[in-house]
Amino acid sequence: MRRIRKREHVENYLRATYRGDTLLGDVFLEHNALPDLSVEDIDTQTTFLGKKVDYPIIINAMTGGTDFSREINRELSLVAKTFNIPMAVGSQTIALCEDEICKDSFRVVRENIGEDGIVIANLNAQASLEDVGHALEMIDADAIQLHLNPAHEMVMLEGDRDFRGVLNNIEKLVKNVEKPIIVKEVGFGISKKVAQKLYDIGVKYIDVSGAGGTNFIEIENMRYNSIDLSDIYSWGIPTALSIIECRQVSKELNLIASGGIRTSMDIVKALALGGDMVGISGEILSYLLHGGYENAKTYLETTLHKMKILMLLMGKRNIEELKNSDYRITGKLRELVNQI
Ligand SMILES: Cc1cc2nc3c(=O)[nH]c(=O)nc-3n(C[C@H](O)[C@H](O)[C@H](O)COP(=O)(O)O)c2cc1C
Repeated sequence: MRRIRKREHVENYLRATYRGDTLLGDVFLEHNALPDLSVEDIDTQTTFLGKKVDYPIIINAMTGGTDFSREINRELSLVAKTFNIPMAVGSQTIALCEDEICKDSFRVVRENIGEDGIVIANLNAQASLEDVGHALEMIDADAIQLHLNPAHEMVMLEGDRDFRGVLNNIEKLVKNVEKPIIVKEVGFGISKKVAQKLYDIGVKYIDVSGAGGTNFIEIENMRYNSIDLSDIYSWGIPTALSIIECRQVSKELNLIASGGIRTSMDIVKALALGGDMVGISGEILSYLLHGGYENAKTYLETTLHKMKILMLLMGKRNIEELKNSDYRITGKLRELVNQI
């Protein structure tokens, strides 16, 4: 069942047509006509989870567990290795049994990235301490993402219906797991209130995974169309708002800005709003499935080239300076931010 579902998620992602709004379009960054920089001066390196990476980009959690997803993980991890950026695997619940072939579809990521790179494990936030240990060990992970996905579960016919005790479970894991824990959404965003609760129990890494990109309500609706869910496809906290809300909780939080990130402009805006790193899932998957490793590599290469152009045009020498950019907000985002 899980194996079929994994494949359907990828296939339905490609067939989905609803276009949400991250509200990153409402962010205005100022052009600097006097940058006083050479393009040679621009440094895109940053440190994440204690390791140097060449760009503040993560290939975010997607898949694993089948032959089909092994191939996706193999190619995505080659892209991650090429650019020396972190990669998170998809949920490893499917691999917590003894099936070695299934585990290999995740291990391929560590094999390709090597021990110097960053590989991030992934499980549901209701996972047990024992399962977290297995998931980390399986891929010698640098950290684990625990995903919160109530909207996804609620529209999945076979999904969970009981979300009690999740915060307590995360607290237990934070206290007992040595590796860093990243709490993430899957495309519906994290509010300031939720981020505060997570911060108060000791969570130091949050991945907002806001609305405006991959939409699991639509993806599930394509698996089972017995009821029409299209009137709630717009549910969720737009990525731009979610980043601003989570950043208000603390400057100390490590924030991963994700959800609907597609372009270089999205990346610089997400960093300016308060992201420390930017996660990309659906967009790179789409390039990969339409043209393999080369196509995904070209997409990232051109996107990162344009990111450098934008950094120069903002007069920002490095990622730290980019993160401290002034920004202005307009329209719907401004109205929402004014009411936080
Ligand atoms: C095909 C597919 C499968 C995914 N599977 C997982 C998963 O197993 N675990 C998880 O935490 N997030 C999963 N996600 C969610 C992404 O990590 C990300 O949070 C979300 O897609 C929003 O980013 P995007 O708009 O760039 O795709 C998946 C996304 C896609 C497209």
